[in-house]
Amino acid sequence: MNIVLITGANKGIGLETARQLAQGEGYFVYLGSRDKTRGEAAVRLLNAEGITNVEWVQIDVTDNKSIRQAKETVQARSGVLDILINNAGIAGAQPQRIATTDIQTLRNVFETNFFGAVQTTQAFLPLLERSAVPVIINVSSELGSLARHSGAERNPNWDNFDAYSCSKTALNAFTLALANQLRNTKFRINSVTPGFTATDLNQHQGTQSVAEGAKHIVRYAIIGPDGPTGKFLKDGIVPW
Ligand SMILES: NC(=O)c1ccc[n+]([C@@H]2O[C@H](COP(=O)([O-])OP(=O)(O)OC[C@H]3O[C@@H](n4cnc5c(N)ncnc54)[C@H](OP(=O)(O)O)[C@@H]3O)[C@@H](O)[C@H]2O)c1
Repeated sequence: MNIVLITGANKGIGLETARQLAQGEGYFVYLGSRDKTRGEAAVRLLNAEGITNVEWVQIDVTDNKSIRQAKETVQARSGVLDILINNAGIAGAQPQRIATTDIQTLRNVFETNFFGAVQTTQAFLPLLERSAVPVIINVSSELGSLARHSGAERNPNWDNFDAYSCSKTALNAFTLALANQLRNTKFRINSVTPGFTATDLNQHQGTQSVAEGAKHIVRYAIIGPDGPTGKFLKDGIVPW
């Protein structure tokens, strides 16, 4: 049985990733939610679809105590973590052009999208080390790609998401730093972008369904020991 934890899985891409993974043979999913009511409702929704190998775990990625308690819960119940998906994320208050954005907006976005993923990963590393093929996915965005921002094809609609973009670039740097530290080990550590997906994060402006977005995350969550590590991925490689 592969044990999975997905943060921010009570809705959107995280919930759909939980659904797709739990439908696969041999996966048990801890559905992370910072809120009990929303977490339990998400589990009930999956249960009603016949998906029973899921359990809610309370985790607020900005709260180290909550992260430690989630780690204790997973350790006590499963003893191991095979796949960690750092999915929890926020867009942040807008407008957020970098020259003028309120610094607190920038800090808030980094607190969830960057520090949240780092401190969650640090807490769960001892449980991941117990896995035969530990996988970490940081759910990133093409807005985190410096290559895309500096290219001629840069989307002008990204102008209003500077804080978010910077936080995802930092998340990508974390992916690479950790993959480099753990290179030549059994760990597979990648950033994955789901693509522009209709969720609450973008007031459902995204052009993909959550099923389409989550499938990219699932593909790289179930990679074997020969899968990539230290990469930014979607259909294939996304330029850093
Ligand atoms: N949608 C897109 O087009 C798109 C594109 C590229 C990347 N992404 C990334 O995909 C991930 C999922 O986003 P989404 O589009 O599915 O957005 P969403 O529907 O707004 O879901 C975000 C999830 O993150 C949770 N969350 C926020 N802050 C949290 C915290 N401090 N601790 C724990 N959970 C927290 C939310 O919980 P609550 O319900 O409690 O708020 C919710 O479950 C994000 O990392 C996002 O940046 C999305």
